[in-house]
Amino acid sequence: MKVVEKKNEWQEKTEEIDNILKNYKDDSSSLIEVLHKVQNLVGYLPKELQKKVANSLNTVPGDVSSVISFYSHFSEFPKGEYQIAICKGTACYVKGSQKIIEKIEDKYGISAGESTEDGKLSLEVVRCLGACGLAPVMTINGRAHGLLNPEKAVGIIEKYLNGEM
Ligand code: FES
Repeated sequence: MKVVEKKNEWQEKTEEIDNILKNYKDDSSSLIEVLHKVQNLVGYLPKELQKKVANSLNTVPGDVSSVISFYSHFSEFPKGEYQIAICKGTACYVKGSQKIIEKIEDKYGISAGESTEDGKLSLEVVRCLGACGLAPVMTINGRAHGLLNPEKAVGIIEKYLNGEM
């Protein structure tokens, strides 16, 4: 299984995107608001679309990309039905979250920031999830699972995939 971005899928929504953008022409101070609206419409913010937003708001793609990286709400990739977020904050890292990430990447053929081809899973690596006492921690669709090891993490993911969670 490999990713990811279905090419040009968003271009089917060009007219609706243009309708959003025309209300903010050259208004770079509205960047976050515009990104919210566009992501709500498209589901994610691929690079080409970021360029289009940057041009319209009269800013540079680097600024758009910085905002997207800063706010975890924004995503450059389509998210899966089950959105896995693995913590790589200090407590989780020390307790082996890297091995869990590698196991998931290996088993499902995706890297951080990618989704499986069937759209079931997406993986992101995040900073402290605020549950350090349960390190290492991952969330799936916002629900926390802690005290993980690679096998346990995959076991939990399989339960989601099998509709048991
Ligand atoms: S470092 Fe992972 S939850 Fe805090």
